[in-house]
Amino acid sequence: MALVALASAKGSPGVTTAGLAFTFSWATRMVLSECDPSGGSILAGYLQGQIDAGRGLMPLAVADLRHSGANDRLESEFWAQLVDLAPPARQRLLLPGLTDPAQSGTLAPLWNRFAGFFSQLEFGDPSFDVIADCGRLAAPATPWPLLWAADAVLLVVRPTLPSIASAVPTLGAIRAQLSERVASLSSLGLVLVGSGPYSASEVSGQLGAPVVATLPDDPKTAGVLSTGGDVRLSRPLLRAAAGAEAGVRVLIDEHRQQVPRRAVRREVAVGNGHTF
Ligand SMILES: Nc1ncnc2c1ncn2[C@@H]1O[C@H](COP(=O)(O)OP(=O)(O)OP(=O)(O)O)[C@@H](O)[C@H]1O
Ligand SMILES: [Mg+2]
Repeated sequence: MALVALASAKGSPGVTTAGLAFTFSWATRMVLSECDPSGGSILAGYLQGQIDAGRGLMPLAVADLRHSGANDRLESEFWAQLVDLAPPARQRLLLPGLTDPAQSGTLAPLWNRFAGFFSQLEFGDPSFDVIADCGRLAAPATPWPLLWAADAVLLVVRPTLPSIASAVPTLGAIRAQLSERVASLSSLGLVLVGSGPYSASEVSGQLGAPVVATLPDDPKTAGVLSTGGDVRLSRPLLRAAAGAEAGVRVLIDEHRQQVPRRAVRREVAVGNGHTF
């Protein structure tokens, strides 16, 4: 599967919650990477501040800059920056996000490199799939290289008029980026969260993209994922998240037929901020 980018338009439709739900419930080993330029929220949220805030994307970026982009250092630093979300198995890992949005400028030249690195984790031993929480794409310093490299670009929307209306221009921006950089829109899909007046097929028709996952309103489980507690895979949100994996894999398979994996990977792997 490799790299799945999750993002939103306006509002807080539940990107981070969906990312955590997928990370806990999908069959493969997972890394959830908090790449939201406006900051990560899981250390203070789900993990309730119990893990020291010294690990994550920013220390990884600093180490990478200090070692002038040496690939072996990026690899070893990366594993040192992860937090085990379901210890001790090390199968559900978190790369914590920024603690200060002001740091996002430092990351801008590194997104290309990180995108290539995340894509490669599928081929490691053991193999990991990566979900990148890219946050709201309206924020400055959008990590576009992650979306270019992603095998699935999933916009999280709610089936309500405000959410659908705000998704229209954001999808326009995503389509423009993917057309220019990947020459294909086949990675694009929607994650529908919660209930509202519109059905999945109506949302899909309005936005011109397939709904590949539907997550129910489940305030209790969402509350656990937002503020901490016991994750129970039997809860509706996590069962739906597990069930969504197959649909995301279909999207990825179709995308890989359109854009053969090796070609994308080679471009990204040599990325040094100037490739694209
Ligand atoms: N499926 C759900 N059912 C009920 N509540 C949900 C669901 N998903 C998310 N929420 C709630 O909605 C709020 C926003 O969720 P979340 O933080 O995941 O959104 P986000 O899109 O990542 O927001 P931000 O842009 O601020 O990072 C939280 O209070 C969360 O508990
Ligand atoms: Mg979030």
